[in-house]
Amino acid sequence: MFQAPLLDGIPQDIAAVADYAAYARRRLDDNAWAYLEGAAGDELTRGWNRAAFDRRTLLPRVMADVAGGHCRTTLLGRELPLPVLLAPVAWQKLFHPDGELATAYTASALGAGMVLSTLASCSIEDVAAAAQQGGNGPRWFQLYLQPERQLNEELVRRAEAAGYEAIVFTVDAPLNGIRNREQRVGFQLPAGIEAVNLRRPLDPNDRAGFELRQRSLAEKRKQRGPSNVFDDLMCHAPTWKDLEWLLATTRLPVVVKGVLHPDDAVRAVDLGAASIVVSNHGGRTLDTLPASLDALPAIAERLFGRVPILLDGGIQRGSDIFKAIALGASAVLIGRPYIHALAAAGPFGIAHVLRLLQDELEATMALCGVDRLDRISTDFLKDPSFRRIDA
Ligand code: FNR
Ligand code: LAC
Repeated sequence: MFQAPLLDGIPQDIAAVADYAAYARRRLDDNAWAYLEGAAGDELTRGWNRAAFDRRTLLPRVMADVAGGHCRTTLLGRELPLPVLLAPVAWQKLFHPDGELATAYTASALGAGMVLSTLASCSIEDVAAAAQQGGNGPRWFQLYLQPERQLNEELVRRAEAAGYEAIVFTVDAPLNGIRNREQRVGFQLPAGIEAVNLRRPLDPNDRAGFELRQRSLAEKRKQRGPSNVFDDLMCHAPTWKDLEWLLATTRLPVVVKGVLHPDDAVRAVDLGAASIVVSNHGGRTLDTLPASLDALPAIAERLFGRVPILLDGGIQRGSDIFKAIALGASAVLIGRPYIHALAAAGPFGIAHVLRLLQDELEATMALCGVDRLDRISTDFLKDPSFRRIDA
């Protein structure tokens, strides 16, 4: 699975976040690489996520006094050194032997936020312990609604008990996208890597209850219609009722991830969501969805500062973060970029990626004449026609 050795230092030719990709490719086999890099269909949305940043140009103001500036921010009551969180990425042991433990340790050591996937290859509790060893960074838990509904409450309770500070409810991936890149290599999880938090039964004494639930699921499957999508997978997909259930079940703030339409954003916040993530899942679910950056302005306009808005998809540069904030985000998440660094250089690589993004964001702010994140606005984007693109 791991083809080349981990880097034990940062070579000179890794000067930017994107430089990690080539090193990660050398280290991972075709199976892991296809899963990590792949996106849905023709991978157009994945490309558009990047292009949306590249085609927006900055308009700096000179001679501003920015001495003493910084890029710290507060999110859901916690101070972050920079407005970046590590996005939920499943099965991280595919990319590094320590998997999510390495990610959690590093993020926490740097005070950065980390979101742990439901499909993590390390346990909720072990990841919390690794984070605590590293430092005091916030950790959030990402929930994929499980067909066995009781399991959802168990997952939420475990996350609460282990000190996770928010539940990120991912609603845009009730089924995996059609990912041709994975199909072409016949992607499979290698032996020994699994979604350990979904192992059943958690309580060996509950064997009877478990079997009962399995039987009722099997019954439902027998009665199902002919479509794998509508008669099977979508029967367990999250609905607005499930969001209501989650909001009523947990005392933690709920962040809804995977929203592109302003009406959905407003509805989630009306119901009580503490934040939303404008995201197309890194282009991995449905191809030809718009770039997340292009969906952001209309959502920001409708939410009008009611909750902090997060954004992910395509972020590789500090200037990308600046542009996302200019168009209405409070912070961003990164996915593949930190996994490239994890695969290539382990915890050290993730720390380096966060450092690079902070240096670049600070340089962008300083050179645009802005000393604080809340002063970044569309005034610093050049072409007004690129400021707002309706969803
Ligand atoms: C993801 N993503 C994801 N999202 C989620 O809510 N739960 C998950 O388990 C996963 N798993 C996952 C695996 C891999 C390999 C990738 C690349 C992505 C989506 C992720 O959180 C995020 O939305 C995107 O990765 C952001 O886009 P970039 O930064 O990768 O361009
Ligand atoms: C993915 C799922 C796990 O994007 O979210 O692969």
